[in-house]
Amino acid sequence: MTISRRDFLAQTALASVALTAKAHGVTKDDHGPAESKATVPASASRHTIICSANGFAYLERGYERLRSGADTLDAALAVVSGPEDDPNDDSVGLGGLPNEEGVVELDSSLMHGPSRRAGSVGALHDVRNASAVARAVMEHTGHVMLAGEGATRFALKMGFTKENLLTEHSRKIWMLWKEYNSERDWWGPGISNPGWKPPAEHEISENLPQSVQRLYALAANLGIDPGRRMDAIHKVLRPPTGTINCSVLNEKGEMSGVTTTSGLAWKLAGRLGDSPIIGAGCYCDQDVGAAGATGSGEENIRAAGAHTIVENMRHGMSPEEAGMEALKRIARNFNNDMARLKYVGMKYYILRKDGAYAGVSLWSRSANWPWEAHPESPAQFAVHDGTARKENCKYLYDGAATDWPPFPKYPAAAAGGIK
Ligand code: GLY
Repeated sequence: MTISRRDFLAQTALASVALTAKAHGVTKDDHGPAESKATVPASASRHTIICSANGFAYLERGYERLRSGADTLDAALAVVSGPEDDPNDDSVGLGGLPNEEGVVELDSSLMHGPSRRAGSVGALHDVRNASAVARAVMEHTGHVMLAGEGATRFALKMGFTKENLLTEHSRKIWMLWKEYNSERDWWGPGISNPGWKPPAEHEISENLPQSVQRLYALAANLGIDPGRRMDAIHKVLRPPTGTINCSVLNEKGEMSGVTTTSGLAWKLAGRLGDSPIIGAGCYCDQDVGAAGATGSGEENIRAAGAHTIVENMRHGMSPEEAGMEALKRIARNFNNDMARLKYVGMKYYILRKDGAYAGVSLWSRSANWPWEAHPESPAQFAVHDGTARKENCKYLYDGAATDWPPFPKYPAAAAGGIK
């Protein structure tokens, strides 16, 4: 079914939903700054790119491709290949943080709106551009998804270069995690297990300053640069999920979307997150729109987030409403239990076919290191519709997630004397 822009706007007006959030026991109706223009369609026929904030530096490159008449998927890949190629970006591609065995395993999925095709790779290793391999799966096979050894062999046969993706810096952070985490790892029940119990806060907070001191000494022994030591410690204590998502709309109304990542740091070998799952990490139907995700992969898979959002828009919700409803499904999956939800981070990036867009986040703030330098660091996304900029996400809960495994944000004083 084709939905016109006029239909969208009419349906949106009828489908106003009351969104009420509970922030750590406090009811909250505010979902971010009221003055945001994010859901106001800029133009029905304007080139528009929306992506996670880590793609900001590459937006201009993608937009230039659109201006020169390139396909929407070309433009999306021009954005996400930036962080994939950057050895200093440890969330994706070359230099990504590895799994628990020290192997960088990459996940990516994409959808090409005009041809309605999809491609995906999971647990790809030794090849840096997972998004380009996902595209090759789409263009050169009769399949949608390849994983593991088969995906890697396929990429090499397609002419992709084989290389060690573990940079010296990522290897050292992995070593730091190995040496620190002898008794804490990914084995055992996760937060979705009915028997899961939150750790006693006092146990952790009492030990944490000591842990940081211990980690700092270990990091020094491993030769981690002093300027990057606290960042490495942060990544050991709060394993990041990395990931870049990008959706593109051109003046002809064509759309594509892509998500690519090295996934959750220190994961079990073979673990696939949401990024390679069509409908979870990425979804695009150019009759309606596109959506993608960064954050806790396991939780997004259980909500089929990207597909849920596109279907919500199909049924008349605005991008913001569609995204907030998906976030509420994640909360519902935990019976709104904040003791669990505080370990979940999730952001959705949403672009409707008429150019309306939104970025929504489970939490209002990002837990960026160093916390002292970013006390109010808002959850953000990036957009280019003629001007590249970052905007604040709308959000469900006020605060910042504590990543899983559960380590609380330690006070600046914990790192006293450490610079
Ligand atoms: N969202 C990326 C991951 O969980 O792997």
